[in-house]
Amino acid sequence: MNDYRIQTTKDGSLSLYSLSYEEGFHDKDGALRESISKYLLPAQLEQFSTTEKIVVLDVCVGLGYNTGCILEKLFQSNIKIEWHGLEIDQRPLNLALNQKIFQKTWSPKLLHFFNCINKSGEWNDGFNEGNIHWGDARQKIYELKGSLKFDLILLDPFSPQKCPELWSEEFISVLTEKLSIKGRLITYSTAASIRASFKRAGLKIYSIVPLIDNQNKWSSGTVAMRKELEAHFISENCQFKELSTREIEHLATRSSIPYRDPTGRGISKEIISTREIEQSKSQLINTSSWRKRWNTAQ
Ligand SMILES: C[S@@+](CC[C@H](N)C(=O)[O-])C[C@H]1O[C@@H](n2cnc3c(N)ncnc32)[C@H](O)[C@@H]1O
Repeated sequence: MNDYRIQTTKDGSLSLYSLSYEEGFHDKDGALRESISKYLLPAQLEQFSTTEKIVVLDVCVGLGYNTGCILEKLFQSNIKIEWHGLEIDQRPLNLALNQKIFQKTWSPKLLHFFNCINKSGEWNDGFNEGNIHWGDARQKIYELKGSLKFDLILLDPFSPQKCPELWSEEFISVLTEKLSIKGRLITYSTAASIRASFKRAGLKIYSIVPLIDNQNKWSSGTVAMRKELEAHFISENCQFKELSTREIEHLATRSSIPYRDPTGRGISKEIISTREIEQSKSQLINTSSWRKRWNTAQ
């Protein structure tokens, strides 16, 4: 387990730091807080209140916070859940389940869910069901039934610079195919490359509004959908909004050049260097000019 360092985040919730990726699993401000603000609130679960069943895909389950927040909320309704998770490493969830503060975070029903997927990879409580597919998400995604369409896809890999393979144009295109007509693909990433890949995949994108105490951030993430959202979802409940001029201009810079992984088996370093070469040859605006323009505009 020496690949991971346990840390307690500012809201008191447990998180991990990965020594091999040199990156934390969550915001230092709070693991739980991050899942609520960047995944649960933008999911606007109230829109599913008249739905019989909701199908959820968690890409990079890790300690399971994103799934945890969503399922706890859904348990309070009569909606049937079909859940699928993709994760390469079983150790983070295993480690978390052995920590008291993690156990105290969740209801007995949710801990039962976590224990089931941790022990057998499956969960079935007679009403809801779920499966975790351990291994590289790029290959494991093909274990999901082709006909399965997801209402929610929670995309939470390490940052694009550390884990570009899960942010590639190709992987995003596969995820897009799996999104239901009214489904939402939600991620903490605001990177131009990721947003541009969503757009090229034909998705409409929205910017997640930062929490009130984090207003110096211009965005907290991205929600991508097949169809334009009905206006009342945006206005009534300001979890996300249309992209600002600053964000739209960001998509026209060199940062919008995608990560490419045509074989689905590319190595991070190669994916990064191929992109750097493409950026160096690009005619697109330099991202530093965009940054300078918006820093002076503030
Ligand atoms: C930022 S953490 C996810 C945090 C998680 N959502 C949570 O709430 O705790 C990134 C996760 O991606 C997993 N990961 C890295 N490469 C992967 C791959 N190729 N396929 C699937 N999972 C991968 C890591 O093991 C790690 O658990």
